[in-house]
Amino acid sequence: MSISLSHIVKTYHKKTHATRKEIKNFYDEATEDYTFWSQDFNMHFGYFSFGKTNPFRRDSMLNEMNTQVLKRLELSPSKQFVADLGCGMGGTMRHFLQRHAALSMIGVTVSDFQVTEGNKLLKKDTAVIIKEDFRNTSIPSNSTDGAIAMESFCHSGHSYDTLKEAYRILKPGKRLVIADAFLKKPPSKLCIGSSYSYKKLCKKWSLEGLGVITTVKKELEKVGFSKVTIEDISPRVAPSVFHVPFAIPLFLLKKLLKREPIKKQSWDNLKASFYALTSGLHMKDFGYYLITAEK
Ligand SMILES: C[S@@+](CC[C@H](N)C(=O)[O-])C[C@H]1O[C@@H](n2cnc3c(N)ncnc32)[C@H](O)[C@@H]1O
Repeated sequence: MSISLSHIVKTYHKKTHATRKEIKNFYDEATEDYTFWSQDFNMHFGYFSFGKTNPFRRDSMLNEMNTQVLKRLELSPSKQFVADLGCGMGGTMRHFLQRHAALSMIGVTVSDFQVTEGNKLLKKDTAVIIKEDFRNTSIPSNSTDGAIAMESFCHSGHSYDTLKEAYRILKPGKRLVIADAFLKKPPSKLCIGSSYSYKKLCKKWSLEGLGVITTVKKELEKVGFSKVTIEDISPRVAPSVFHVPFAIPLFLLKKLLKREPIKKQSWDNLKASFYALTSGLHMKDFGYYLITAEK
């Protein structure tokens, strides 16, 4: 592919801002497609653990990411209440609930589809998905024993107000765990290839932008969090990212064979997954991190 410099400059100056409506439309229309990615409706990348997960079995890695996040919450075995901020179809919620007998959960999403269908999957559980903005929820202050955000805060650019809301709802001493991709440097300092992939990724996945990892750490501390631990888990995430070039053509083929139309949001989702792969290859500019922060 040859990309002219003027095209890149033009692309670079286009907005990355995604409105709540754009995000909602994207997830209302494209959530169903995630069954091609995960039988368990995990809408994130995976965590490869040698001897524990099979790199050819995607869901084993995606579920291992859930397990890693759960471990970092350090929940006690007693009654616990955890919020999933940007919960998708509740895949992670179901994973947690199967592993902690005294857990109840609340999930927050902007998508009506995820509220309706996700709650159906959770009907036997002590959990609910509500339609709210994770920057301003109705969850009471100091009420949760943990909060998680898996590939969701990128939709608001890992912004200060997003982190502040997570801090507000947590009980003192409890933890926020974020699993997401971040920039290693400001967008203006990305190389041409990274900059192109980044802009496309944000546009196709309706992301406000990825936070710069060093800035996000400072913002978390400014909000009031302590013991902020940043783990670069990019090598563990890479095996699941490499599933993208195989999973996507298969998904397209299935649709074509069934003579089903491919929605705009599905195309966007597919293209964004490819840009996630091309971004991931620029290891100097992008990284995938697990962040743990204590209130
Ligand atoms: C990529 S999905 C990840 C879902 C889930 N965390 C998982 O890993 O399976 C991103 C989620 O963030 C949610 N989201 C994006 N912006 C949001 C906002 N401002 N408030 C609440 N949820 C939001 C979307 O509705 C979607 O459920």
